Amino acid sequence: PNLDQMGGDGSGLRRVGCRAKGGSPGFKVAILGAAGGIGQPLAMLMKMNPLVSVLHLYDVANAPGVTADISHMDTSAVVRGFLGQPQLEEALTGMDLVIIPAGVPRKPGMTRDDLFNINAGIVRTLSEAIAKCCPKAVVNIISNPVNSTVPIAAEVFKKAGTFDPKKLMGVTMLDVVRANTFVAEVMSLDPREVDVPVVGGHAGVTILPLLSQVKPPCSFTQKEIEYLTDRIQNGGTEVVEAKAGAGSATLSMAYAAVKFADACLRGLRGDANIVECAFVSSHVTELPFFASKVRLGRSGIDEVYGLGPLNEYERIGLEKAKKELGGSIEKGVTFVKK
Ligand code: NAD
Ligand code: LMR
Repeated sequence: PNLDQMGGDGSGLRRVGCRAKGGSPGFKVAILGAAGGIGQPLAMLMKMNPLVSVLHLYDVANAPGVTADISHMDTSAVVRGFLGQPQLEEALTGMDLVIIPAGVPRKPGMTRDDLFNINAGIVRTLSEAIAKCCPKAVVNIISNPVNSTVPIAAEVFKKAGTFDPKKLMGVTMLDVVRANTFVAEVMSLDPREVDVPVVGGHAGVTILPLLSQVKPPCSFTQKEIEYLTDRIQNGGTEVVEAKAGAGSATLSMAYAAVKFADACLRGLRGDANIVECAFVSSHVTELPFFASKVRLGRSGIDEVYGLGPLNEYERIGLEKAKKELGGSIEKGVTFVKK
């Protein structure tokens, strides 16, 4: 099939100019890895987002099926599918936002770093194409290990001369989503009203929830702090073990990815005070990348916020997080440089 026509029936009967009534310009969004466990529900949720006018679905497998399926949803975004490397550049040209959930997931007993050997190469290839075809796009990286794949993308962009630290974000929103859920459970609150800053990175001890800064203000016992910190840091493993070999979090991840992508698009539109946690190029610590709260705006990241006051427990956690994170960042940088 001519995949560029996917989303219509290929008849050429679509009238130009009949869409996008209501005045909103809409953004062009590409999902790379769109046929995967995360990619499919993510594609569905992005098709439901009124800020999206064009949705490009790229994968090395099954892109036509997913595209045909999603394209029948009666929302305004125009969906097009792209299959395999020869169609990658076309998938990326003109995009405002690129979301990358491409790559292999964990099985029980694996760390995220065990995915490095396969996923590092995938993220490098995709980043090279982004540098060539849409160097000004905001890029959301989901592929693990995020602590290394974001530095890989940055290094590729630096090599190509296109690196803009305001545009590159590792998606750590699932850690925040989990933290909000688990804190709400313990405190009997509505999770929608809870906001837990989660800083550092996205693996084990690098995931550092700042429970002293939870909104609404909560007073936890030491036992609650230890339980919550451990559960938030190991939330991914909890899902990997429950899925028993069938992959890692996909549905909660798609939810979190859409929450974050929507924040990016509202920022690009010019909405004020859009603040979310993300793993970004940073001067908050001595490390070149770190997750913290960022303000999203018309140019991507408008401001990277510091960590605020930490208690003793969090200060110890921060030192542990930085130690592991430094090695993972270095591993990503070296992968591209060598
Ligand atoms: P999956 O195996 O179900 O889907 C991955 C998809 O990527 C597949 O459709 C596959 O065909 C595609 N793919 C492989 N190589 C590709 C390439 N070169 N170009 C484009 N697409 C390619 O896996 P999943 O469950 O969707 O997880 C994807 C990734 O997201 C994993 O690395 C996982 O660890 C990670 N993840 C991250 C978070 C996070 O919080 N950041 C959360 C969950 C999962
Ligand atoms: C998660 O946090 O769910 C993801 O990073 C996937 C994983 O491997 O745990």
